[in-house]
Amino acid sequence: MRIAYVASEVHPFSKTGGLADVAAALPGALAELGVEVTVFSPCYRSAASWLAVHDMPGEELTLPNPLQIGTSRHDVSYRFFEYAGRRAVLVINPRLYDRSELYVDDNGRDYADNAARFSFFCRAVLEYYLHLDDPPDLFHANDWQAALIPVYLKSLYRHPRFIHTRSLLTVHNLGYQGLFPADQFSVTGLPAALFDPAALEYWGQVNLLKGGIVFADAVTTVSPTYAEEVQTEGFGMGLDGVMRAHRHKLTGILNGIDTREWDPASDPHCPAAYTADNLAGKRACKRALQQRLGLPVRPRTFLVGAISRLDAQKGIELIFEAFPRLASLDVQLVLLGSGARALEAQARDLAAAYPQRVAVVIGFDEPLAHLIEAGADALLMPSAYEPCGLNQMYSQRYGTIPIARATGGLADTVHDASAERLAEGTASGFTFHAFDAGHFTDAIRRAARLYFDEPKVWNALVVRCMQIDHSWAKRARAYLRLYEQLLAARPS
Ligand code: ADP
Ligand code: GLC
Repeated sequence: MRIAYVASEVHPFSKTGGLADVAAALPGALAELGVEVTVFSPCYRSAASWLAVHDMPGEELTLPNPLQIGTSRHDVSYRFFEYAGRRAVLVINPRLYDRSELYVDDNGRDYADNAARFSFFCRAVLEYYLHLDDPPDLFHANDWQAALIPVYLKSLYRHPRFIHTRSLLTVHNLGYQGLFPADQFSVTGLPAALFDPAALEYWGQVNLLKGGIVFADAVTTVSPTYAEEVQTEGFGMGLDGVMRAHRHKLTGILNGIDTREWDPASDPHCPAAYTADNLAGKRACKRALQQRLGLPVRPRTFLVGAISRLDAQKGIELIFEAFPRLASLDVQLVLLGSGARALEAQARDLAAAYPQRVAVVIGFDEPLAHLIEAGADALLMPSAYEPCGLNQMYSQRYGTIPIARATGGLADTVHDASAERLAEGTASGFTFHAFDAGHFTDAIRRAARLYFDEPKVWNALVVRCMQIDHSWAKRARAYLRLYEQLLAARPS
């Protein structure tokens, strides 16, 4: 089986969030199941410098004919190479991709030409298979940036070469739909008839994700609970009707994690290794984290961490509201994040108000994220919504107990430490339901109580979390089954 996996970010070439981790790990797990996977992504500045620094061998090639995108002509070039058992093809176009950030300018505003940037990306992927390689059995497109692939296959690229090729769209986050003013429709190169409410039109605007949902042969979300939630008004972000209309082809497949990249037994970013059998290294990591962030080094303090995009989705304001209510407890908070300027400022204010108890690092810092996962006792994820969430699974693997709102993938992966679940050994964190600081504070208090008052039970919970299998090896099989179903349904 030959799969083209198309994603706008892939770790280690580029990353703003969890999609990059998924796009790095899932193709590898599929390759191990015998699938021939080619991963496509734009060659951003970060990717070009990663390739240069790591001295990656590879070929570059330019197609003879440029593509017309709106009023501009663009050469179509690729850089291809093998890495970690699969083939990668990076689409080169310095005019569109050689920029400091992936999607936004230095002021945090979306680049004005994003519709053109990702129309070009999708078309370059399809052109690759028209000119350079046999067509794949299936295009696995991710999020709005790749959502035009299913649309093109049924319109501009309805080509005999793709007659047996199927498409799957994975929605990682309905909060990002690729919405553009109507005048941007022309850059897609699609026939005007598709600017229609039954296709890409959405209340007078162009909605790329909607187009992908309508035209893909199947749609997945990144957790089963999110697949249900997106069909409701509360979570559908205006596309719940579209989701309901296409529910016959919608399923939820839980993300996995890269258990090699995230492994407390061999994490190069941590000063000490540890396993479920010997947690001494975890205590050393806690000490190192407190030292590094200038917090009092106290082994018995309840140290909670948060690693997050600072965005309304993540419920960060609940952390700001909850922390002052924990004054009577011996709690330290470490927060690593970047994003909305207002939330960054609030985070700094919290650290200034509690210099002995709160440390805030604004920025994107992969090594520090690993150290927090290892050094903290618990990890906070009070998300307003969470399609899957990866940090709670990284935390569990590092014996760091998630305290999470029961929504989306968090509801599927974090099972509340009720007395009953603790007794059965099925607890894997603390959850709360209503989105408010009161319920969140209660969940943190319950966790702290267990940590301080029942260290043996707490340790058993740590060990049990570390033993949960979130590996992609298991979860990739669900994708393989879906690919097989889609290919079996092809007309012969
Ligand atoms: P989302 O994709 O919605 O941001 P996920 O939990 O799926 O949420 O994935 C987030 C990923 O990004 C995780 O790998 C997390 O460790 C990482 N991350 C988020 N913010 C930061 C940051 N400031 N520094 C380092 N890593 C971060
Ligand atoms: C999105 C979601 C997150 C999910 C990630 C990877 O960014 O916000 O919940 O884990 O995609 O699928």
